[in-house]
Amino acid sequence: MPLTGKNILIGVTGGISIYKTLDVISALNKLGANVKVMMTESAAEFVSPMTFEAMSKNPVYTSLFDKKNAWRIPHISLSKEADLIAIIPATANIIGKIAGGIADDIVSTTVVAATSPVMIAPAMNTNMYHNPVTQRNIETLKSLGYLFITPTSGVLACGDIGDGKLASVEAIVEAIKGQLLYPEKDLLGKKILVTAGPTQEAIDPVRYITNHSSGKMGYAIAKAALLRGAEVTLVSGPVNLTVPSGAEVINITSAKEMYDAVMENAENADIIIKAAAVADYRPENIAENKIKKGGELSIPLSQNPDIVKSLGEKFGGEKVLVGFCMETEDLIENASKKLKSKNLDFIVANSLNEEGAGFKGDTNIVTIIDKSGNKTDIPLSQKEDIANKILDRIK
Ligand SMILES: Cc1cc2nc3c(=O)[nH]c(=O)nc-3n(C[C@H](O)[C@H](O)[C@H](O)COP(=O)(O)O)c2cc1C
Repeated sequence: MPLTGKNILIGVTGGISIYKTLDVISALNKLGANVKVMMTESAAEFVSPMTFEAMSKNPVYTSLFDKKNAWRIPHISLSKEADLIAIIPATANIIGKIAGGIADDIVSTTVVAATSPVMIAPAMNTNMYHNPVTQRNIETLKSLGYLFITPTSGVLACGDIGDGKLASVEAIVEAIKGQLLYPEKDLLGKKILVTAGPTQEAIDPVRYITNHSSGKMGYAIAKAALLRGAEVTLVSGPVNLTVPSGAEVINITSAKEMYDAVMENAENADIIIKAAAVADYRPENIAENKIKKGGELSIPLSQNPDIVKSLGEKFGGEKVLVGFCMETEDLIENASKKLKSKNLDFIVANSLNEEGAGFKGDTNIVTIIDKSGNKTDIPLSQKEDIANKILDRIK
């Protein structure tokens, strides 16, 4: 599990979105992390410490003055053993206290004593969030190296609509994971364009030609690149996946739409990774009405524009171009041919014939081939791990 051996200390403060912190703790536990919780007195008014104790499977700290374990000095021992401290949710009050150097409860005092990175996930009424004092405190903390998980916009618990909604559980977990696994942000400043998923080529208003691509490989690459600090644009065919938090997503349906979206955004990218399974052909004409049953039917096809080839012609040698190649026979030979003919820097070859590889699952088996013909074999691994190995190779 990716977070095995990591000690995460969650500081919980008195905001209405506190219930979501329980889901964050559960997700971090599932990733293998050891999670401890400290709560302010106000937080304990919202949810009982017992609930956090049961979720984190660790004692919960609610007071600076824990008489039973006074010899441990909780705020010092907690801060020392944490690989990361995350305040979820963070009230306007705790943000103000940290910015002012105040240490008068277990959470604020532990943060003052911290030597590990501190992440702050604010959540509050939109007027409280936009209050210039709150904004000044956030800017002060950012300038001192505190990391913020930006709240989203939406309907708030008080009924107001606006900024200040706690970031999604998934976004918070991804941010924590990214900080723990890639603290150095080795792709910071890089702009990466990723394509993912299948395309759908309409036959008539109700039918289309497509393939089995789930989009999981492309989405895993987008997620991994974001965690490593890259700016990611994801051009996605129709898939059933959660959008990676922080990515700019352009949803398309057909190969022609994907071609347009990629060409429009390629100029701005440093690295282009084409993990989408684009249909090579589309019906020559789209029937205006649903085609009726009866008699023989043949559907003439036209070739779709070759996105990878166009990218190679226009940007080969200028940007890092990575293609994918899925084959059912002569995998390495066909992949090497595609690498050369399309002027790519890397091709990631995967075979449909191997168990655990291919479109639908969470795992894959791939070979990365570079321009000089060097091959890197990646055995059966999670798509997330393969994504990082591809990014390592590009780097
Ligand atoms: C029902 C209710 C909901 C609240 N929700 C929030 C909130 O979402 N964000 C916030 O900053 N303060 C919120 N407050 C105010 C804080 O609880 C208050 O400022 C408290 O002093 C924060 O203490 P703490 O930062 O020590 O936890 C809420 C108060 C109440 C009564």
